[in-house]
Amino acid sequence: MTTTRAADRARLGHRLRHASRHPDRVVPYLRRLGRDWRLRLTTRDHVAYYRAVMKADTARSPSAAVGSATEERWLALGEMQFDYLLRHGLSPKDRMLEIGCGNLRAGWRFIDYLRPGHYHGVDISPEILFAAADTVAERGLQAKVPHLTLVRDLRLSALPAGYFTVVHAHSVFSHSPIEVVDECLRNVARVMAPRAFFDFTFNRTEGEHHHVLREDFYYRADTLTELAASHGLWARVMEDWERLPHKQSKIRVRCVRR
Ligand SMILES: C[S@@+](CC[C@H](N)C(=O)[O-])C[C@H]1O[C@@H](n2cnc3c(N)ncnc32)[C@H](O)[C@@H]1O
Repeated sequence: MTTTRAADRARLGHRLRHASRHPDRVVPYLRRLGRDWRLRLTTRDHVAYYRAVMKADTARSPSAAVGSATEERWLALGEMQFDYLLRHGLSPKDRMLEIGCGNLRAGWRFIDYLRPGHYHGVDISPEILFAAADTVAERGLQAKVPHLTLVRDLRLSALPAGYFTVVHAHSVFSHSPIEVVDECLRNVARVMAPRAFFDFTFNRTEGEHHHVLREDFYYRADTLTELAASHGLWARVMEDWERLPHKQSKIRVRCVRR
């Protein structure tokens, strides 16, 4: 696991080796490369860039847009996130903020489990939020009154102070440059209740942080724990998550002064 994580996927050598092992992925990669060039010229910042990526991907398939090629994978990935938090004591009384909620791959399970009105999902993509609303309807979860909000940044400025007991961001920082991660870590403490925690996953590298096509970002764990510390947050890598069949690592942060 560590060896794969150590690879710098932006290096030409890695890309050529990857292409020779997976020739079927070359054409989709070249398509993404073309899109990367086009979006770089037509979008003003990362959020606008990634919103355009999500718009195009969601039009093809909302499940694939959040990273699950099949319905089975979509269900399994959501279940893994849900079960993990259950093992860590998630209770129906918790008030959850899910950052980058997507089409509620895990969110529908949280909505179903939590008390009405206790789930808040935010996302930068209107298209994926329409798909999230479809998921609420398809799962018959209307009476749980989930809050789904479109955001343009991660300042979380419209959310109440000291309110959320659990904050969750799965596969969001894996698509975010460091300034977006920094913005989130700078602002998240304000909305966290005393003793709340914030779990986020990230693509881990042991080398220099890097990105592939501005869609996939790779960070060292200590880069992120130090960034959290610079915002008064205490952070640790969740070792029990490492044992699960998932390529990303998970960090949990808490507020130090509470
Ligand atoms: C790979 S999907 C994961 C969705 C969901 N967390 C899950 O596990 O199914 C990443 C989601 O994060 C959203 N996203 C990306 N960057 C974001 C940002 N800066 N703020 C809020 N949402 C963001 C994307 O629009 C997308 O819905």
